[in-house]
Amino acid sequence: MSTVENAARALKSLKDEEWRTLAGLERASSGSGTPDMGRLSRMSRLPLERVRFATDALEKKGLAARRGHGYVLTREGVEVMALKDYVKKDLIFALGAAIAKGKESDVYEALTEEGTAYALKFYKIGRTSFTSVRKKRVREQAEFRSWMTANYDAARREYDALRKLQGLSPAFPRAVAYSRSTVLLEELSGVRLSNRPYLEDPRSAFLSIVESMRTAYLKANLVNADLSEYNVLTDGASVWLIDWPQAVDATHPNHSELLMHDVSAVAAFFKRAYRVGSDPGATFRYVSGATQRLE
Ligand SMILES: Nc1ncnc2c1ncn2[C@@H]1O[C@H](COP(=O)(O)OP(=O)(O)OP(=O)(O)O)[C@@H](O)[C@H]1O
Ligand SMILES: [Mg+2]
Repeated sequence: MSTVENAARALKSLKDEEWRTLAGLERASSGSGTPDMGRLSRMSRLPLERVRFATDALEKKGLAARRGHGYVLTREGVEVMALKDYVKKDLIFALGAAIAKGKESDVYEALTEEGTAYALKFYKIGRTSFTSVRKKRVREQAEFRSWMTANYDAARREYDALRKLQGLSPAFPRAVAYSRSTVLLEELSGVRLSNRPYLEDPRSAFLSIVESMRTAYLKANLVNADLSEYNVLTDGASVWLIDWPQAVDATHPNHSELLMHDVSAVAAFFKRAYRVGSDPGATFRYVSGATQRLE
């Protein structure tokens, strides 16, 4: 079972004191060293013996892992807290099937009570197993903190970028909310361009990607910085530009190179896969606003 599925299952069985202990563990993670039982008891506002009982239960459910005299959250622990957050805010009601599982994230379908489907993206950058070899406590805590920072930051950055893009073009998925290492997105019905699906009009699909990149750059000041056939979805007619955690704005010293890189990657793919030729230099000038028309 994946961590997400385990988290979804745990969501139903967690008792109030277990939630408080999870929240205490999360708060304690920002300090140095593995939180010991005393600190955890203060952070969770629970008596010591209740915390012991709760951490025991959390460990059995895979949501916390024992470290020396204390505990750390696991990835499942983080994910169950995010799920609870969305459920509490009435944003989602149930978790559906996995849409895609990749290196840096797993994407699941999530349903609202009315049956609307969202895509829920769970980041999993870096080390994901907190139960492997026993190492120095401080080091483990530092590793967990860096895992948390990387994944919490990625989710927040993707959400922030998509909020800036919201409404500028239908090619940007709507971001509904984010929580911890996850971001809740409008569900798109397309497939990745890298699958080389049939396109009704390849040239116009290319131009519509170019137009969207231009809109992102000129209206939201954003460069995706990881655009390629892997981060464009299509249903054969419309295109969507996804995956924005690494987006940079014009204050980034390399934003021009990154924009050129995005333009070149998309242009090269269209040439290779659909025989749609273009001039990357001219396309770059158009996307960056130096020219008003694509020659
Ligand atoms: N809003 C969405 N609606 C539907 N499917 C989505 C959505 N966002 C992402 N996906 C699916 O999840 C896959 C991975 O998404 P994304 O590119 O954002 O994450 P990633 O971190 O790059 O994942 P990977 O490690 O696989 O590259 C997409 O290729 C797509 O199949
Ligand atoms: Mg991607």
